[in-house]
Amino acid sequence: MTVGQLDSSIVKITNSANKSEPLPNDKLNFGKTFTDHMLTVEWTAEFGWAVPEIKPYGKLEIDPSCCVLHYAFELFEGLKAYRTSDDKITIFRPDMNMKRMNKSAARIALPTFDSEELISLIGKLIEQDKHLVPEGQGYSLYIRPTMIGTTDGLGVAVPDKAMIFVILSPVGPYYKTGFKAVRLEATDYATRAWPGGCGDKKLGANYAPCVVPQLQAANRGYQQNLWLFGEEKYITEVGTMNVFFVFKNTETGKKELVTAPLDGTILEGVTRDSVLTLARARLSPEEWDVNERYFSILEVEERAAKGELVEAFGSGTAAVVSPIKEIGWRGKDIQVPLLPGEQFGELTKRVSEWIADIQYGREEFKDWVRVV
Ligand code: COI
Repeated sequence: MTVGQLDSSIVKITNSANKSEPLPNDKLNFGKTFTDHMLTVEWTAEFGWAVPEIKPYGKLEIDPSCCVLHYAFELFEGLKAYRTSDDKITIFRPDMNMKRMNKSAARIALPTFDSEELISLIGKLIEQDKHLVPEGQGYSLYIRPTMIGTTDGLGVAVPDKAMIFVILSPVGPYYKTGFKAVRLEATDYATRAWPGGCGDKKLGANYAPCVVPQLQAANRGYQQNLWLFGEEKYITEVGTMNVFFVFKNTETGKKELVTAPLDGTILEGVTRDSVLTLARARLSPEEWDVNERYFSILEVEERAAKGELVEAFGSGTAAVVSPIKEIGWRGKDIQVPLLPGEQFGELTKRVSEWIADIQYGREEFKDWVRVV
């Protein structure tokens, strides 16, 4: 053990008296139920990371003056564990989440840590509650690593105390509508992120301000906002997922899979990266361009009118690959084609199967899957 470094070799484990029964899949509401154990690791500027603890899921005790409660020293991650057809438990690309978690921590002056050590600790936590990892495609164990500043007192300063905690939630689909295509409202009446800001970091503070615009969109019948940016009305992301559009050039017949570039205003999604990597590896370059570029709602509107809008879908850990069927814009709905009688378009279906095959262990791809 290296004193002060996050270290998974010694863990204090206190078993829960409770051994929960798994809920049936149709009772799994996203993030509403948790497993029997949680992981906590405390950090101080003086001693670094303390011995990690796995203990019964329960309340955290913090002082009312604690800096997380006043100045939002908080960041989180979302990743998932899957039960494969041969009954192994796997985690999908955890190194990407850990890298992003460290970037978020560095942005708000919280301590960084060795990614592999936290992955190994998460594995030990899942081991305790393994029986609660759901079975079946579309169902998984959502892993929520979180870091908070825990310094007491009201001065705005670099926290000298912090904590990582990890909780686990057996989940099914993120949206209440289940696995159905969603309606988004293109939103330029509020801004989610801006150049030089921190919209690419997974900070809790990026989420709360989006809830009022989300409610406004919901009152008009849309599930989520499709955040636009600037005079050009560039499409950025949804807040709970990145977004992809498919266009087909009617003159050349060539198709384009496009998503917004990583310019600091959108989250560096792990599923986004997976979609791009798989699309670049598997779509024929004669038929397809796969691009990260600026594109606007005005382009989507214009190309929909020309019959060039073929598909749209969101990608995220919680949302997985979520087909989009309509986009509200300036009082009208842009219709996104779906396959006849289905809730998805052709590429959306293919991409979601590519990813599920890897996540559920039916196929190997690079080193994306870690067995717990
Ligand atoms: C995720 O996809 O893991 C997210 O963090 C989105 C969300 C539920 C906030």
